[in-house]
Amino acid sequence: MTNIITHDILIVGAGLAGSWAAMTAGREGVTDVGVLSKLHPLRSHSGAAQGGIAAVLNNNRPVPGTGKRGPLEQIPPGDPDVDNSDLHMFDTIKGSDWLGDQDVIQILVDEAPEILYEYEHMGCVFSRTPDGRIAQRRFGGHSSPRSNYAADFTGHVLLHTIYEQAVKHGVKFYAEWYCMDLIIEDNICRGVVAMDIETGELHTIRAKAVMFGTGGYGRAWNITSNATANTGDGVALAYNAGVPLMDMEFVQFHPTGLYGKGILMSEACRGEGGYLRNSDGRRFMEDYAPGLMELAPRDLVSRSEQTEIEQGRGVGADKKGIYLDMTHLGAEKIMERLPQVRELALEFLGVDIITDPVAIQPTAHYSMGGIPANSDCEVLADADGNLVKGFYAAGEVACLSVHGANRLGTNSLLGASLFGRRAGISMAKFIKDGAKLAPLNGDPAAKNQAIIDRFKNAPVDGKEERFSQIAKELKIVMTNKCGVFRDDARLREALEDIKALQERFKNARVMDKSNRFNNDVLGIIETDHLLTFSRVIVESGLARTESRGAHSRTDHVKRNDEEWLKHTLAHLTEDGSPKLSYKSVEVYYDRFPPQERKY
Ligand code: FUM
Repeated sequence: MTNIITHDILIVGAGLAGSWAAMTAGREGVTDVGVLSKLHPLRSHSGAAQGGIAAVLNNNRPVPGTGKRGPLEQIPPGDPDVDNSDLHMFDTIKGSDWLGDQDVIQILVDEAPEILYEYEHMGCVFSRTPDGRIAQRRFGGHSSPRSNYAADFTGHVLLHTIYEQAVKHGVKFYAEWYCMDLIIEDNICRGVVAMDIETGELHTIRAKAVMFGTGGYGRAWNITSNATANTGDGVALAYNAGVPLMDMEFVQFHPTGLYGKGILMSEACRGEGGYLRNSDGRRFMEDYAPGLMELAPRDLVSRSEQTEIEQGRGVGADKKGIYLDMTHLGAEKIMERLPQVRELALEFLGVDIITDPVAIQPTAHYSMGGIPANSDCEVLADADGNLVKGFYAAGEVACLSVHGANRLGTNSLLGASLFGRRAGISMAKFIKDGAKLAPLNGDPAAKNQAIIDRFKNAPVDGKEERFSQIAKELKIVMTNKCGVFRDDARLREALEDIKALQERFKNARVMDKSNRFNNDVLGIIETDHLLTFSRVIVESGLARTESRGAHSRTDHVKRNDEEWLKHTLAHLTEDGSPKLSYKSVEVYYDRFPPQERKY
């Protein structure tokens, strides 16, 4: 067997979840921690998050002795002086359309302030209130200003902070290494196969504990806020290795992606007071969410925008846009709190948001579904709670399920950090309790090399396909048939289209035969992943004959708790289709029983 590397803990993905887990395991005394990242760690997609990280800190309460508030000019509904973890919990549950597991949400809200103070003590450069506290603003679906921010670079500063800490704790980073295979046998995780992208060499990496923090799967749509790297590698690798995927039908469309591009225009634009207007110049949100207007949760705002567009009140060349209007906010506020958003709108559309409204549209943003895991981030093998020993997941790739059917903005940076930390603690305990390297069968790296060689060397016989064309067609299918609104007919068509693309993929070839930095090899594997999990999304969505959170069906418009208050689990079967089963949702009926969701 060639090229074997070993670690006590191996983490795949260097975003907030992966870096927190690595740093924490180091801090807990595990000295042999490796982190693989297909990018340089500081290019991980966590760094693209803009508007804030949620935690109840009450920093907008009057400054003692002065009667003055912090930076909040807009007084939220209710008493702005009082926020608490029960309110954060209720908002998150309601935002999740009651699909979130309430035991895990309890952990999220309880540990949130501690995470914020950890960041602060590590030296994270937050924006500040006039009296020096961490600045907070409002975000959609949150009843109080609890988005803690660093202008509109929040993910960037958090990622830099935690990466520094992981380096300080002696974590070994493998930058630009691509995880190609996850090795699980008999429900025991044994390691991974990874490619050093610089050389093209494959390595088998054995570890006592493996964690995935590989991010989401937004690149299956052609309008997305996700970076090119977000090809759902983690979910596809786990699924192919026999792990079920949970709630894959729930994909969040962020209401404000830059028109025609999908690039994130932070929800902070609306948190700071920005308006959404249709082609008549009307703030149409008063028709859909009169209580919260532009600060309703994302699923509701995206549906409202899409309805305006479909009813002919869109803007832009193809009328598929909506205006985001911040012209009343003033240059000073925009330059202080939304400088990145201004720059992006200027660079990509030539619009200065200080003086003009900018066109936006819903953009595929966040994957609520993923690898099922418990609150210690141990991966579940089935609906009964059996575990895949030695395998952990946290961050967007995982489904714990803390966000249920629709995530609230700013709960993702929190969830990635907090559950990354919990994963680090639980893996460290696993190692200290005497975990051993599980034996390997065969030569996994050689098996994966054979797959690459087949892509490179299969005869060119006139039937060959370009993987990039297949990926392009898939994104159009997912955008047109599995988007903000869905129905049986469109989902069935999407499924047939995906099956046809999977057939064509069998003839996909790599034209570049070199080894070093071969983007064709990465691209063909990523395309395989896109096809694999898109099929799960569509089949899970077809089966769920209700509307809940981000899964909105025009042929089943109501939420149906009697039949569908349950999580979907999808297992890969031999013929390539998912076998669906269901798992109950953790509801505290005495505290937060299901209610009608109105804003
Ligand atoms: O809109 C934003 O700034 C994104 C934040 C998030 O997805 O939590």
